[in-house]
Order: sequence, then structure tokens, then C-alpha cells
Amino acid sequence: MTAAETPATALVVDDDEAIRSMLTAVLSNESLTVTTAANGQDAVEAFRQHHADVVLMDIRMPKMNGLQAMKAILEINRSSAVILMTAFAEIATAVQAVKDGAFDYVIKPFDLDEIRLLVRRALEISAMRADIASLRRELSDRYGAEGILTANPAMKDLRQTIAKVARSQATVLIHGESGTGKELVAAAVHYGSPRATGPFVRVNCAAIPEGLLESEFFGHEKGAFTGAATRRRGRFEQADGGSLFLDEIGEMSPGLQVKLLRVLQEREFERVGGTEPIRTDVRVIVATNRDLEAMVREGTFRQDLYFRLNVVALKTIPLRDRREDIRLLADHFLERFAADNGVKLRGFDPAALECLEAYPWPGNVRELANAVERAVVMSTTSAIQPEDLPESIACGSTPVFEAHPLGADNPIRPLREMVRTFESHVIQRALAENDDNRARTAAQLGISRRALLYKLHDYDIS
Ligand SMILES: Nc1ncnc2c1ncn2[C@@H]1O[C@H](COP(=O)(O)OP(=O)(O)OP(=O)(O)O)[C@@H](O)[C@H]1O
Ligand SMILES: [Mg+2]
Repeated sequence: MTAAETPATALVVDDDEAIRSMLTAVLSNESLTVTTAANGQDAVEAFRQHHADVVLMDIRMPKMNGLQAMKAILEINRSSAVILMTAFAEIATAVQAVKDGAFDYVIKPFDLDEIRLLVRRALEISAMRADIASLRRELSDRYGAEGILTANPAMKDLRQTIAKVARSQATVLIHGESGTGKELVAAAVHYGSPRATGPFVRVNCAAIPEGLLESEFFGHEKGAFTGAATRRRGRFEQADGGSLFLDEIGEMSPGLQVKLLRVLQEREFERVGGTEPIRTDVRVIVATNRDLEAMVREGTFRQDLYFRLNVVALKTIPLRDRREDIRLLADHFLERFAADNGVKLRGFDPAALECLEAYPWPGNVRELANAVERAVVMSTTSAIQPEDLPESIACGSTPVFEAHPLGADNPIRPLREMVRTFESHVIQRALAENDDNRARTAAQLGISRRALLYKLHDYDIS
């Protein structure tokens, strides 16, 4: 927020009424909104109620003096600018106060121009500080470990491990199901590391055609092969001074595995068609949803490379194993997509939330994000309703605990009973999908019409 959008605010604190009214007049003239207090205690109270961008405060006052009041105010808001007003005899105290966080001090009697100038500077600096703070927050929210939202103890541990691991140079192997946040973890490792100001380069090993992989990684010299019209820097060079994130490492060809191993060991490589060795300073982070250990046993992934990569292993957890995160993440995505789409939404209807919490989320957080995005777009009321959710979540009029007899949270009942519940719901859903047309429903379920009629009767479905 800049001074141009909302008027800046000032708090004037002095036990001398004449000084209070003079400063109020001067600052109001500068388009500031001014409040006043006659002692430190009232000042802290006033500040607590409506923060001020700049505080002009006498040091010697009854009740609570200016230094104590400043301390309390800075505890409430560390970035507020406090300008102390002091008698000549108290300069030493004022100097100390500046070391303790005061913006500056003026000596009484002061010049009004001096006050104007100081206040303007204080406002500029506090606006800049606020901008920097919000930018930093945005960056680390988006990319830092803090951006990994979770209420789950094991995921919280993971977050702490990331912070520790980030500081080291170790190669990191991230393993987890699709959509569980592996890329988020990789970014958090990079942005939490001393390399954060360097590049974060991502390569999806599964998306590059086999023939181009080598040049993609190591670059090529002009004329190295047909089509290589110019020299090209590979990903390893681009990531110099930063981190290289090799996503889906399990898809890497055996040939490239050898080359990668060599770079990791020697920190050196050549461009395709080149002879001159190139050295780069790159931290490697890899991710996969495949079981690399099993691949090593099967002989499809090199064991030596696996050992090289597996210096630090981080595991992401499937969403179904941390159900406490469903609500947290759903709220988070709701807020984000509502803002993106300019939609005003209060939240989830309790029934919709119940559906989300009961669903097993095979596609994990990504699937949840997509479901919420769709619901935000589909919603017509002030809260997300069950019918706004994608059909795959099977959130109909049926109570959720029944709609998902196999949900992990449901107690095991006799098999026969559970199978019946399940069957009944499958039939109800098929009927709904076929607009109650029994012939089509029977065809879809692969049973005879007669069998369907019997079951409808048996389950008391009308
Ligand atoms: N804990 C979390 N907090 C906030 N957002 C998350 C969290 N986990 C995942 N996401 C978001 O969910 C989406 C999927 O995460 P991400 O791409 O990191 O998964 P992935 O494990 O790399 O999946 P894949 O294996 O399919 O590549 C991203 O948009 C990511 O920002
Ligand atoms: Mg990914």
C-alpha cells in the first residue's frame, strides 16, 4: 500500500498540549491523519487500536516514558517508524534509542521543516520496508518450505528436514506418488539454500526425446549434428551457481545414466561435438514416483548412480495418509482460485467438505487443486456445494460414509454387508448417470434388466 492510496497516519505523543496541537497542524497539512496521546501508556493503547505509520514521541512524560512506549510499540509492529523528541540533555539516551530501533530523533526546540523532512523520509522508508517484506513473503510462500502447507506431523518433519538439507550441498532424491508435491519440495530445497539467488533449472527427463537428451543436458557445439546450427548451452551450464532439478529421473535411459553419473563424480562434461571440458557448480536435485530400488534390482536403473543420487532421500506422503491436510489445502486452493477468478466465496458447504475428506485422492494434491478449481468455476452460491465438485468424487445426495464404504476411515463391518452397501451405491450412481433409464443402466453395469430389477427391489431403490 502506498501513501497515494490511503492517507498515511501519524501518532503524536507529548504531555505538552501546545506541542501536540502544533504538530497536529503541521502533519495534517502534509496530508497525514493524526491522532494524539498525552503519555506513553495512552500512546501504546492508541497504537494498538490503529497502527500509525510514523510515531512522534517525547521522551520525558508522566506514567510511561517515551522509551518504554517505543519498545511496546515496536513489539506490536516492528516496522513502524518512531521519531523521538528530546531535550538537549538527553541526547545520549536518544542515541541509544536509535540503536534500539527508533527511526531518528529531533532535539527540542525543533525546526518545523526538520520535522516535515524526517516524517517524509520515515514514510518512504516504511513503505519500502513493507514492499520488501511482502515481496519476500510472496517468494518464500510460493517457493520456500513455508509454502508447503500441512497439518501432518510427518510432513512437518519433512519441512524441517528440507530446511536443514537445503543448507548443504548434498544431492537430494525426492520420492513420492504423483501430485504429492515433489516439485514443491525441490523448489523449497533450492530457495532455502545459499544458491537461492542462482538459477533453479528444471528438466523433465520423461518429456525429452531420447535422441535430444544428451544435448539438452550438456549442450552442443555448432555443427555437432544435423540441425545444430548454433552452439547451445545445456541445462548443466544454465544451472551454474544454482540447482538443477531432474524430474522423473526413473525415465532416464541407461546411456544417459552413465553420462550423468560421470558428471556427478567429476563435476565436468563436454558439449556434444565438443572436446573442451566444461566445469559447472551445480547442485543436483532429482525426483521420481518410481521405486528406484526395485528398478536397481531389476537392472533398469544403475546401482552406482542410485547411490550417488540417494545421498539425502526425502519422501512425500500421499494425501490419503494425511487426511488432516485435505481441509487445509482445500481452503488454500479455494482462496487462490476464487481470487484468480474474481469470485467471492465464503468457503465449503459442510457436506461438500465431508465429501472431500472422504475421497481417497489417487491423484493427490494436484487432483484436489483441480477439483477445487472446477468447483470454484461451477459454483453459483456463496459456498461450494457437493454438486459443484467433480463427479469422480461421487459426492451426491448419499451420505458420505456410505458413499465410500472402502474409505480408510470407515470401520470394517461384515464383508457381506459392506459389499451390499457398495453395490447399492454403484447401482444408484449408474441410475443417476442414465437418467433413471433402467435398460441403459443394466447395460452399463453389464447385468440383465431382470437382475437389475431384482436388485432395485432388494436394495429398496425406487
Ligand atoms: N503441501 C502443499 N501445499 C501447497 N500446495 C501443494 C502442496 N503439495 C502440493 N501442492 C500443489 O499441488 C500441485 C502438485 O504438486 P507437485 O507438482 O509438486 O507434485 P509432484 O509430486 O511433482 O507431482 P508429479 O509426480 O505428477 O510431477 C502443485 O500445484 C503444488 O503447488
Ligand atoms: Mg512433479
